Amino acid sequence: MRINIVTMFPQMFQTVTDYGVTGKANRSGVVEINPVDLRSFGIGSHQVLDDRPFGGGPGMVMMAQPVIDCVEKIKDQASQDVQTVYLSPQGKRLEHRHVYDFSKCSELILLCGRYEGIDQRALDIIDAQEWSIGDYVLSGGELAAMVLIDAVVRQVPGVLGNEQSKAEDSFANGLLDCIHYTRPHTVQGMSVPEVLVSGDHNAIRRWRLRQSVGRTWLKRPDLLEKIELDEHARRVLYEFQSENEELESS
Ligand code: ADE
Repeated sequence: MRINIVTMFPQMFQTVTDYGVTGKANRSGVVEINPVDLRSFGIGSHQVLDDRPFGGGPGMVMMAQPVIDCVEKIKDQASQDVQTVYLSPQGKRLEHRHVYDFSKCSELILLCGRYEGIDQRALDIIDAQEWSIGDYVLSGGELAAMVLIDAVVRQVPGVLGNEQSKAEDSFANGLLDCIHYTRPHTVQGMSVPEVLVSGDHNAIRRWRLRQSVGRTWLKRPDLLEKIELDEHARRVLYEFQSENEELESS
């Protein structure tokens, strides 16, 4: 998979090209993360990228031509099924299922806007999809693009050492992940739940499902409304609710 990023700040992407899971995937070649400097497509000797908005008002708008030229150049060398994504607070809100779908693409072009955004004609001409990472405004699309890259790359087969761990991540099955403990056994007088040191793998699996379903019910009841729990999951949720009668789902 190749992920191209059109940005005025390519160096910001060292965060994903050099560090952690995405850095390793990039170095090993499983994923190629390719930031492209939009400035070199700027207009005139000053390589200008922005101008005042038609109709007046505050702020500046990114001009269409540099964005079109940059994307066309990337598309000249890209695979057939490349998808172009514009990160913007006006876009459709990104969720796990969309991230999973993106992880199946062979090539992406991520467009990072600054100022008031990109001239709409560029977005229409290059046929960009518009995606948001949440209902708040960032000062540019770069951080949003990095969030998308991180979430997508870890879904690409071969990227995580343990393929099972992403299946158990929050949202993968529509539920929040269960809680976790490691050594030492006791921290400031608080011990690990006994079942986790019992060696009884069936009991551990059942306890983890109970925590996962129960905590989803407590913290994100909206998620439970979107999925159909099987008989076993319904039973463990009932157990959790009986054990935690004092806690109320909000
Ligand atoms: N650019 C600015 N804010 C954004 C957001 N919430 N999501 C995606 N891109 C953005």
